[in-house]
Amino acid sequence: MSPAHYPKDVIEKIELLQEKFKASGQDLSSYLEGLLYADYMTYWDYINLDILLSLQQPRTSFKDEKIFIIYHQITELYFNLIIWELEQIADKKPIDAKFFKERLDRVIMYFDQLISSFAVMWKGMEREQFLKFRMSLLPSSGFQSAQYRVIELQSTDVHQLIHIDKREDLMGERDPDVIFDNLYWQHGAKELATGEKTLTLKSFEKKYSKDLKELIEVYHNKNIWRKYLECLDKDEELKQMLRSLDLKANVFWPLAHYKSAVRYLQRDPVDIAATGGTNWQKYLPPRFQKVIFFPELWSQKEMDEWGKGWVVKEVFGNEE
Ligand code: HEM
Repeated sequence: MSPAHYPKDVIEKIELLQEKFKASGQDLSSYLEGLLYADYMTYWDYINLDILLSLQQPRTSFKDEKIFIIYHQITELYFNLIIWELEQIADKKPIDAKFFKERLDRVIMYFDQLISSFAVMWKGMEREQFLKFRMSLLPSSGFQSAQYRVIELQSTDVHQLIHIDKREDLMGERDPDVIFDNLYWQHGAKELATGEKTLTLKSFEKKYSKDLKELIEVYHNKNIWRKYLECLDKDEELKQMLRSLDLKANVFWPLAHYKSAVRYLQRDPVDIAATGGTNWQKYLPPRFQKVIFFPELWSQKEMDEWGKGWVVKEVFGNEE
């Protein structure tokens, strides 16, 4: 076939390619030869399926441990998608309500997935197996999920993440070290008996505290709350979406999670040791930490009632 007989769109594409490769000093002909030898893309290569399915390495021979690992991995992937969207909101300048809402909608959708799928944990494993394989994973804990902390830091002014007892006093504090030492979750990983930092917390800090402190600085002016203030055409719908995110991230996901802790760890005091000795009953329920990303969007009464009532209904059904 002579060039005159090539379809017009093929010739146009070749010309465009010629321009592209010429601009970077590359030889189109060599690349075309490469195309001749290249294999077709397959589904399994594109999504790295073999690698993905090799990432589950149980530490014990209990069958249900695989469920525990995979569900954590699924959650971390969703966390990653959430971070991806929050990053785009943070970096959009100037931000308009349409862009804001489209991204928030996705974040809310991901949280919905995480909340409903948490049943995989609370009803998807045998308690007896869990209590045994969990012991061989100590002192690791989902508490050490850095992506969870990143989502928090991207979402709100860091002062809203300070422990409730210190939040008001430290409202004007700017020193990242002081702020970091007083974040609410620091209190979730103190040993019940001594009040000392648990090894779970110490190793988490060793790996992530530098990065997280930097993130505090980076998101000071571009967290979701700041972007909302900055958005010139914000409306009631955007406000309601932020409230929805607040509830999903700080009440409903924590409750779905708490429900698992109750199911597996409640009752037998010895089992509490399976968490590394933290006082999780006083830490995990949202009504104690009162982490609220957007307090200005809630009434005082709603904040006073944060997580209450829901705890009884969501976690214990009608039993209590
Ligand atoms: C049977 C399932 C689970 C149980 C029994 C459980 C139990 C606990 C407990 C007791 C804590 C308090 C800290 C500690 O003592 O280690 C905790 C914290 C945490 N876990 Fe889980 N967990 C489960 C599943 C998950 C999953 C699937 C994730 C997903 C990544 C996760 C993420 C977290 C996070 C982010 C924290 C810190 C929460 C906060 O600081 O407010 N957990 N978990």
